[in-house]
Amino acid sequence: MLKKIVFATNNAHKLDELRQIMGHSYQVLSLADINCHDDIPETESTIEGNARIKAEYVKQHYGYDCFSDDTGLEIDALGGEPGVMSARYGGVAHDSERNIDKVLRLMDGIPMERRTAHFRTVICLIQDGQEHTFEGRVEGHILTERHGTGGFGYDSIFRPLEADGSTFAQMTPEQKNAISHRGRAVAALVAYLQDK
Ligand code: IMP
Repeated sequence: MLKKIVFATNNAHKLDELRQIMGHSYQVLSLADINCHDDIPETESTIEGNARIKAEYVKQHYGYDCFSDDTGLEIDALGGEPGVMSARYGGVAHDSERNIDKVLRLMDGIPMERRTAHFRTVICLIQDGQEHTFEGRVEGHILTERHGTGGFGYDSIFRPLEADGSTFAQMTPEQKNAISHRGRAVAALVAYLQDK
């Protein structure tokens, strides 16, 4: 029987991605699966801090061992922004179109060689009373307009270095998972869990 683990999210895209990566070794439960419908605070000023408080919240209030992730898009020409503000950069939480519009506006006129950026995911695992963190990154460029319709968030303007020129939004989920920030952070998490 598969071991159960709670992933402190209800984001369907992320659950799908995670189940594709981890599904053969774990039964990944969402917050809804454990009847957690709370508005979990994400009030820290760093990606690491937000990953940690979400995992701690689930452990403290629901008692499950769990892991939680937090991701930011860090753009060099914008001093690391949107970073921890990635979900609400355009002023409205989870409005990807506004978020992208703001990035493109702020980067108007910046040449491609200075449009470098990376996605960074931090996963915080709380298991058997101990906390562990895992990080994954993918480097790339911010394009001047949207390309592709797959994925979510900033995928249509992010072109990873390790691809054939496609944006994340032009890749299959498998292609994206193989090189993505979250894929790498999850690989580190899975390697740790399988070693135990
Ligand atoms: P979260 O911490 O995973 O919720 O990510 C915060 C925000 O970063 C999301 O709302 C998206 O705007 C963006 N983001 C996270 N992961 C990705 C990704 O894989 N592709 C594009 N945007 C992402």
